[in-house]
Amino acid sequence: MYYWIMGGGGIGRALARECLGRGDKVVLFSRSDPDIKGVDWLAVDNTNLAALAEATRERVLPDRVINTLGMLHQDEQQPEKRIEEVTQAALANSIRINTWPTLAMAQLLSSRLSRRQPLQFAALSARVGSIGDNRAGGWYSYRISKAALNMAIKTLSIEWQRRFPLACVVGLHPGTVATELSAPFRSGLADGQLQSPELAALHLLMVLDGLSPEHSGRIFAWDGQEIQP
Ligand SMILES: NC(=O)c1ccc[n+]([C@@H]2O[C@H](COP(=O)([O-])OP(=O)(O)OC[C@H]3O[C@@H](n4cnc5c(N)ncnc54)[C@H](OP(=O)(O)O)[C@@H]3O)[C@@H](O)[C@H]2O)c1
Repeated sequence: MYYWIMGGGGIGRALARECLGRGDKVVLFSRSDPDIKGVDWLAVDNTNLAALAEATRERVLPDRVINTLGMLHQDEQQPEKRIEEVTQAALANSIRINTWPTLAMAQLLSSRLSRRQPLQFAALSARVGSIGDNRAGGWYSYRISKAALNMAIKTLSIEWQRRFPLACVVGLHPGTVATELSAPFRSGLADGQLQSPELAALHLLMVLDGLSPEHSGRIFAWDGQEIQP
């Protein structure tokens, strides 16, 4: 199998290592060198459509694209606890990183896909992006940008079902995983709730292995359970 993995964070790199171990071919799109022998690294900012276009133009299309980009906190931006903390700049930044790159890559793929081409196109979402499942509140920018990602996945799946019926577009929730993204927010986790990136990668690939175009547009957790958006 041939993969394009967008993002070389904790889960992106673990996915790349696991796929390599299986003998798959991996191209990893990241701003920084993942330093994984055997991975074809493309130095690119995945939020930049022009850079993505340049990086992918001459490449054979993959069997699977997995977008692992995500931002919950960065520099001065922290997840909001109260409405007074929400800013237009933080919300726009979250959408730029958490929502836009999936649409950007889909746009590029759309100009090259054909009706007979199978493709799995997955983006890592988050359970907290589910509107129906929102019990705790808070984290406005992250929740809103992930809910928007879920809507992007559904909307794209409808268009691609007509244009590219062998494509499968899904969102995946990786669980709580020990990466930089979750580092400040792990207190109070039940025993066994925190997964290593390696275990999360295994789970996510297992879920993808079970999916076909009829699942397109849906969101699944690492254990295969469907999440209602
Ligand atoms: N870890 C968890 O507990 C958890 C839980 C639920 C959902 N998720 C989701 O799982 C996915 C992977 O998360 P992770 O835990 O692996 O996070 P991570 O280690 O923090 O990696 C974050 C990724 O996002 C990209 N990114 C962050 N800020 C960016 C910016 N300003 N511009 C461009 N790219 C940027 C990074 O790209 P570069 O490679 O270019 O640096 C990196 O690949 C995300 O979608 C996250 O929302 C994670």
